[in-house]
Amino acid sequence: MIYSKKILLTGSTGYVGSLIRAGLGDHWDLTGVSLHADETKEQIQCDLTDIQQVNCLRERISPDVIVHASGDKNLVRCEADPKTAYLTNVQSTLNLIATFPESRIIFISSDYVFPGDRGSYREDAPFSPATVYGQTKACAELAGLMLCQHFFVLRLSALYDRNATFIRFLREKLTAGEPVNCYSDAFYSPTYFGDFLAVLQRLVENNDLTRRIYHSCGHRTSRYYFAKLFARSSGLDDKLVLQSSRALDKASFLFADISLENTLTREALEITMGGHEGSLNAMAAL
Ligand SMILES: NC(=O)c1ccc[n+]([C@@H]2O[C@H](COP(=O)([O-])OP(=O)(O)OC[C@H]3O[C@@H](n4cnc5c(N)ncnc54)[C@H](OP(=O)(O)O)[C@@H]3O)[C@@H](O)[C@H]2O)c1
Repeated sequence: MIYSKKILLTGSTGYVGSLIRAGLGDHWDLTGVSLHADETKEQIQCDLTDIQQVNCLRERISPDVIVHASGDKNLVRCEADPKTAYLTNVQSTLNLIATFPESRIIFISSDYVFPGDRGSYREDAPFSPATVYGQTKACAELAGLMLCQHFFVLRLSALYDRNATFIRFLREKLTAGEPVNCYSDAFYSPTYFGDFLAVLQRLVENNDLTRRIYHSCGHRTSRYYFAKLFARSSGLDDKLVLQSSRALDKASFLFADISLENTLTREALEITMGGHEGSLNAMAAL
Protein backbone atom coordinates (compact mmCIF):
# COMPACT_ATOMS: atom_id res chain seq x y z
CA MET A 1 0.00 0.00 0.00
CA ILE A 2 1.22 3.56 -0.75
CA TYR A 3 0.64 5.87 2.20
CA SER A 4 0.28 9.62 1.82
CA LYS A 5 1.79 10.56 5.21
CA LYS A 6 4.65 9.40 7.39
CA ILE A 7 3.59 9.74 11.03
CA LEU A 8 5.56 9.57 14.26
CA LEU A 9 3.22 8.77 17.16
CA THR A 10 4.66 9.47 20.62
CA GLY A 11 3.08 7.65 23.55
CA SER A 12 2.14 4.81 21.21
CA THR A 13 1.86 2.28 24.07
CA GLY A 14 -0.42 4.51 26.18
CA TYR A 15 -4.21 4.71 26.28
CA VAL A 16 -4.47 7.53 23.74
CA GLY A 17 -1.69 6.13 21.54
CA SER A 18 -3.23 2.65 21.48
CA LEU A 19 -6.58 4.06 20.35
CA ILE A 20 -4.83 5.98 17.57
CA ARG A 21 -2.88 2.92 16.43
CA ALA A 22 -6.00 0.73 16.44
CA GLY A 23 -8.21 3.32 14.71
CA LEU A 24 -5.87 5.03 12.24
CA GLY A 25 -2.76 2.84 12.04
CA ASP A 26 -3.87 1.39 8.69
CA HIS A 27 -4.33 4.84 7.14
CA TRP A 28 -0.78 6.04 7.60
CA ASP A 29 2.84 4.92 7.53
CA LEU A 30 2.97 5.04 11.33
CA THR A 31 5.96 4.60 13.63
CA GLY A 32 5.33 4.61 17.36
CA VAL A 33 7.69 5.72 20.09
CA SER A 34 7.49 5.36 23.85
CA LEU A 35 9.66 5.18 26.94
CA HIS A 36 9.46 1.41 27.47
CA ALA A 37 8.46 0.20 23.98
CA ASP A 38 9.68 -3.19 22.80
CA GLU A 39 11.64 -2.39 19.65
CA THR A 40 9.90 -3.62 16.49
CA LYS A 41 9.71 -2.38 12.89
CA GLU A 42 6.80 -0.12 13.87
CA GLN A 43 7.88 0.86 17.39
CA ILE A 44 10.97 2.62 18.79
CA GLN A 45 12.11 2.96 22.41
CA CYS A 46 13.15 6.53 23.28
CA ASP A 47 13.13 8.83 26.30
CA LEU A 48 11.79 12.03 24.78
CA THR A 49 13.02 14.10 27.72
CA ASP A 50 16.61 13.33 26.66
CA ILE A 51 17.69 15.48 23.68
CA GLN A 52 20.45 13.05 22.69
CA GLN A 53 17.98 10.19 22.41
CA VAL A 54 15.65 12.41 20.36
CA ASN A 55 18.56 13.24 18.04
CA CYS A 56 19.11 9.49 17.53
CA LEU A 57 15.40 9.14 16.74
CA ARG A 58 15.89 11.76 14.02
CA GLU A 59 18.43 9.49 12.34
CA ARG A 60 15.81 6.74 12.06
CA ILE A 61 12.73 8.63 10.93
CA SER A 62 11.80 11.90 9.23
CA PRO A 63 8.04 12.22 9.73
CA ASP A 64 5.65 14.55 7.90
CA VAL A 65 3.57 14.78 11.06
CA ILE A 66 4.26 14.07 14.72
CA VAL A 67 1.24 13.21 16.83
CA HIS A 68 2.58 14.00 20.28
CA ALA A 69 0.48 11.83 22.61
CA SER A 70 3.05 10.92 25.23
CA GLY A 71 2.99 12.51 28.65
CA ASP A 72 2.06 12.10 32.28
CA LYS A 73 -1.61 12.77 33.05
CA ASN A 74 -1.50 11.48 36.62
CA LEU A 75 -2.65 14.51 38.61
CA VAL A 76 -1.41 13.28 41.99
CA ARG A 77 2.04 12.32 40.64
CA CYS A 78 2.46 15.64 38.82
CA GLU A 79 1.48 17.54 41.98
CA ALA A 80 4.03 15.56 44.04
CA ASP A 81 6.88 15.91 41.52
CA PRO A 82 6.50 19.04 39.37
CA LYS A 83 10.03 18.77 38.00
CA THR A 84 9.44 15.35 36.46
CA ALA A 85 6.01 16.50 35.25
CA TYR A 86 7.73 19.42 33.50
CA LEU A 87 10.31 17.15 31.88
CA THR A 88 7.71 14.66 30.68
CA ASN A 89 5.10 17.11 29.43
CA VAL A 90 7.11 20.20 28.43
CA GLN A 91 10.76 19.26 27.80
CA SER A 92 9.73 16.36 25.54
CA THR A 93 7.74 18.85 23.45
CA LEU A 94 10.64 21.29 23.24
CA ASN A 95 12.97 18.47 22.19
CA LEU A 96 10.64 17.41 19.38
CA ILE A 97 10.29 21.00 18.12
CA ALA A 98 14.07 21.51 18.11
CA THR A 99 14.85 18.18 16.47
CA PHE A 100 12.12 18.00 13.83
CA PRO A 101 11.82 21.61 12.60
CA GLU A 102 10.14 20.55 9.35
CA SER A 103 7.48 18.28 10.82
CA ARG A 104 3.97 19.40 11.69
CA ILE A 105 3.31 18.65 15.36
CA ILE A 106 -0.13 17.90 16.75
CA PHE A 107 0.07 18.17 20.53
CA ILE A 108 -2.56 16.22 22.48
CA SER A 109 -3.58 18.54 25.28
CA SER A 110 -6.21 18.66 27.96
CA ASP A 111 -9.21 20.44 29.47
CA TYR A 112 -7.03 20.84 32.60
CA VAL A 113 -5.40 23.93 31.06
CA PHE A 114 -8.58 25.60 32.33
CA PRO A 115 -9.34 26.19 36.02
CA GLY A 116 -12.65 24.27 36.10
CA ASP A 117 -14.67 27.13 37.58
CA ARG A 118 -17.22 27.95 34.90
CA GLY A 119 -16.92 25.47 32.00
CA SER A 120 -17.90 25.72 28.32
CA TYR A 121 -14.37 26.95 27.60
CA ARG A 122 -13.90 27.89 23.96
CA GLU A 123 -10.79 27.19 21.91
CA ASP A 124 -9.76 30.85 22.28
CA ALA A 125 -10.54 31.21 26.00
CA PRO A 126 -7.61 32.38 28.15
CA PHE A 127 -6.31 29.62 30.36
CA SER A 128 -5.23 29.57 34.00
CA PRO A 129 -4.66 26.00 35.16
CA ALA A 130 -5.28 25.06 38.79
CA THR A 131 -3.03 21.97 38.87
CA VAL A 132 0.61 21.18 38.12
CA TYR A 133 -0.55 18.81 35.39
CA GLY A 134 -2.60 21.61 33.78
CA GLN A 135 0.30 24.04 34.13
CA THR A 136 2.67 21.72 32.29
CA LYS A 137 0.18 21.15 29.47
CA ALA A 138 -0.46 24.91 29.18
CA CYS A 139 3.29 25.59 29.21
CA ALA A 140 3.90 23.07 26.40
CA GLU A 141 1.04 24.56 24.38
CA LEU A 142 2.37 28.10 24.70
CA ALA A 143 5.96 27.15 23.93
CA GLY A 144 4.91 25.15 20.87
CA LEU A 145 2.62 27.84 19.50
CA MET A 146 5.32 30.49 19.91
CA LEU A 147 8.32 28.51 18.68
CA CYS A 148 6.85 26.57 15.75
CA GLN A 149 4.58 27.81 12.97
CA HIS A 150 3.28 24.30 12.30
CA PHE A 151 2.47 23.35 15.90
CA PHE A 152 -1.20 22.58 16.54
CA VAL A 153 -3.02 21.92 19.81
CA LEU A 154 -5.78 19.33 20.12
CA ARG A 155 -7.42 19.49 23.56
CA LEU A 156 -9.46 16.55 24.82
CA SER A 157 -11.71 16.08 27.81
CA ALA A 158 -11.69 12.65 29.48
CA LEU A 159 -11.40 10.25 26.56
CA TYR A 160 -13.69 7.21 26.56
CA ASP A 161 -14.07 3.92 24.77
CA ARG A 162 -15.05 0.52 26.20
CA ASN A 163 -11.77 0.33 28.15
CA ALA A 164 -11.71 3.79 29.74
CA THR A 165 -11.20 3.62 33.50
CA PHE A 166 -14.56 5.21 34.45
CA ILE A 167 -16.48 3.04 31.96
CA ARG A 168 -14.81 -0.17 33.22
CA PHE A 169 -15.55 0.83 36.83
CA LEU A 170 -19.24 1.47 36.01
CA ARG A 171 -19.59 -1.75 34.02
CA GLU A 172 -18.04 -3.85 36.76
CA LYS A 173 -20.12 -2.38 39.59
CA LEU A 174 -23.45 -2.21 37.77
CA THR A 175 -23.10 -5.71 36.33
CA ALA A 176 -22.55 -6.97 39.89
CA GLY A 177 -25.72 -5.13 40.99
CA GLU A 178 -23.76 -2.74 43.20
CA PRO A 179 -24.72 0.94 43.55
CA VAL A 180 -22.28 3.62 42.41
CA ASN A 181 -22.07 7.16 43.71
CA CYS A 182 -21.43 9.73 40.99
CA TYR A 183 -21.08 13.48 41.33
CA SER A 184 -24.02 15.51 40.07
CA ASP A 185 -22.09 18.74 40.72
CA ALA A 186 -18.98 17.93 38.64
CA PHE A 187 -19.52 18.85 34.99
CA TYR A 188 -17.27 17.92 32.07
CA SER A 189 -17.50 17.12 28.37
CA PRO A 190 -16.06 13.60 27.88
CA THR A 191 -14.60 12.86 24.45
CA TYR A 192 -15.87 9.79 22.57
CA PHE A 193 -12.91 8.04 20.92
CA GLY A 194 -14.67 8.01 17.53
CA ASP A 195 -15.01 11.81 17.64
CA PHE A 196 -11.37 12.16 18.69
CA LEU A 197 -10.11 9.99 15.81
CA ALA A 198 -12.26 11.87 13.28
CA VAL A 199 -10.82 15.23 14.38
CA LEU A 200 -7.26 13.91 14.54
CA GLN A 201 -7.51 12.41 11.05
CA ARG A 202 -8.55 15.78 9.64
CA LEU A 203 -5.73 17.58 11.45
CA VAL A 204 -3.17 15.14 10.10
CA GLU A 205 -4.45 14.97 6.53
CA ASN A 206 -5.43 18.61 5.94
CA ASN A 207 -2.41 20.67 4.89
CA ASP A 208 -4.27 23.99 5.09
CA LEU A 209 -5.43 24.22 8.68
CA THR A 210 -6.95 27.59 9.49
CA ARG A 211 -6.74 27.42 13.29
CA ARG A 212 -3.95 26.50 15.73
CA ILE A 213 -6.10 25.23 18.65
CA TYR A 214 -8.86 22.61 18.41
CA HIS A 215 -11.25 20.95 20.87
CA SER A 216 -12.58 17.42 20.53
CA CYS A 217 -15.22 16.85 23.20
CA GLY A 218 -18.78 15.73 23.82
CA HIS A 219 -21.69 17.71 25.17
CA ARG A 220 -21.45 19.14 28.68
CA THR A 221 -22.79 16.68 31.26
CA SER A 222 -22.50 15.86 34.95
CA ARG A 223 -20.59 12.70 35.84
CA TYR A 224 -23.84 11.42 37.38
CA TYR A 225 -25.91 11.86 34.22
CA PHE A 226 -23.16 10.41 32.03
CA ALA A 227 -23.13 7.29 34.26
CA LYS A 228 -26.93 7.03 33.90
CA LEU A 229 -26.64 7.22 30.12
CA PHE A 230 -23.96 4.54 30.15
CA ALA A 231 -26.16 2.23 32.26
CA ARG A 232 -29.14 2.66 29.91
CA SER A 233 -27.08 2.13 26.74
CA SER A 234 -25.62 -1.07 28.21
CA GLY A 235 -28.93 -2.52 29.39
CA LEU A 236 -27.88 -2.12 33.04
CA ASP A 237 -30.00 -0.76 35.90
CA ASP A 238 -29.62 3.04 35.93
CA LYS A 239 -31.31 3.22 39.38
CA LEU A 240 -28.04 1.87 40.81
CA VAL A 241 -26.42 5.17 39.80
CA LEU A 242 -26.78 7.42 42.85
CA GLN A 243 -26.18 11.15 43.15
CA SER A 244 -23.36 12.40 45.31
CA SER A 245 -21.62 15.75 45.74
CA ARG A 246 -17.98 16.65 45.07
CA ALA A 247 -18.44 19.77 47.19
CA LEU A 248 -19.55 17.73 50.21
CA ASP A 249 -16.87 15.07 49.60
CA LYS A 250 -14.20 17.76 49.09
CA ALA A 251 -13.01 15.70 46.09
CA SER A 252 -9.51 16.64 44.91
CA PHE A 253 -8.96 17.43 41.24
CA LEU A 254 -12.62 17.12 40.26
CA PHE A 255 -13.82 20.59 39.44
CA ALA A 256 -17.27 22.19 39.39
CA ASP A 257 -17.22 22.60 35.61
CA ILE A 258 -14.25 21.87 33.35
CA SER A 259 -16.29 21.32 30.19
CA LEU A 260 -14.98 22.37 26.79
CA GLU A 261 -16.94 23.93 23.96
CA ASN A 262 -16.10 23.13 20.31
CA THR A 263 -17.98 25.39 17.90
CA LEU A 264 -14.80 26.82 16.32
CA THR A 265 -13.41 23.33 15.74
CA ARG A 266 -16.64 21.99 14.22
CA GLU A 267 -16.89 24.93 11.84
CA ALA A 268 -13.20 24.92 10.85
CA LEU A 269 -13.17 21.17 10.15
CA GLU A 270 -16.81 20.85 9.04
CA ILE A 271 -17.38 18.00 11.43
CA THR A 272 -20.10 16.96 13.90
CA MET A 273 -19.45 15.51 17.35
CA GLY A 274 -20.78 15.29 20.81
CA GLY A 275 -24.04 13.44 21.63
CA HIS A 276 -23.32 10.92 24.38
CA GLU A 277 -26.50 8.87 23.84
CA GLY A 278 -25.47 8.14 20.25
CA SER A 279 -21.84 7.52 21.16
CA LEU A 280 -22.65 5.22 24.08
CA ASN A 281 -25.18 3.28 22.00
CA ALA A 282 -22.61 2.91 19.21
CA MET A 283 -20.06 1.73 21.77
CA ALA A 284 -22.48 -0.83 23.22
CA ALA A 285 -23.08 -2.21 19.72
CA LEU A 286 -19.34 -2.71 19.01
N1 LIG B 1 -6.46 9.79 28.55
C1 LIG B 1 -7.18 10.90 28.48
O1 LIG B 1 -8.40 10.92 28.76
C2 LIG B 1 -6.53 12.19 28.06
C3 LIG B 1 -7.33 13.35 27.97
C4 LIG B 1 -6.72 14.55 27.62
C5 LIG B 1 -5.36 14.59 27.30
N2 LIG B 1 -4.62 13.44 27.39
C6 LIG B 1 -3.17 13.56 27.12
O2 LIG B 1 -2.70 12.46 26.35
C7 LIG B 1 -1.39 12.07 26.78
C8 LIG B 1 -1.36 10.57 26.94
O3 LIG B 1 -2.38 10.14 27.80
P1 LIG B 1 -2.64 8.59 28.03
O4 LIG B 1 -3.98 8.48 28.64
O5 LIG B 1 -2.37 7.83 26.78
O6 LIG B 1 -1.51 8.27 29.12
P2 LIG B 1 -0.82 6.86 29.42
O7 LIG B 1 -1.75 5.73 29.13
O8 LIG B 1 -0.28 7.01 30.79
O9 LIG B 1 0.40 6.77 28.37
C9 LIG B 1 1.50 7.62 28.46
C10 LIG B 1 2.40 7.35 27.28
O10 LIG B 1 3.49 8.30 27.30
C11 LIG B 1 4.73 7.56 27.18
N3 LIG B 1 5.79 8.31 27.85
C12 LIG B 1 5.79 8.79 29.11
N4 LIG B 1 6.97 9.40 29.37
C13 LIG B 1 7.72 9.29 28.25
C14 LIG B 1 9.03 9.70 27.89
N5 LIG B 1 9.83 10.34 28.76
N6 LIG B 1 9.49 9.39 26.65
C15 LIG B 1 8.71 8.72 25.77
N7 LIG B 1 7.45 8.31 26.05
C16 LIG B 1 6.97 8.59 27.27
C17 LIG B 1 4.44 6.21 27.84
O11 LIG B 1 5.40 5.26 27.42
P3 LIG B 1 5.59 3.82 28.16
O12 LIG B 1 4.22 3.17 28.21
O13 LIG B 1 6.51 3.08 27.26
O14 LIG B 1 6.13 4.11 29.53
C18 LIG B 1 3.04 5.95 27.29
O15 LIG B 1 3.12 5.46 25.97
C19 LIG B 1 -1.12 12.82 28.09
O16 LIG B 1 -0.12 13.77 27.84
C20 LIG B 1 -2.39 13.52 28.43
O17 LIG B 1 -2.14 14.83 28.82
C21 LIG B 1 -5.17 12.25 27.76
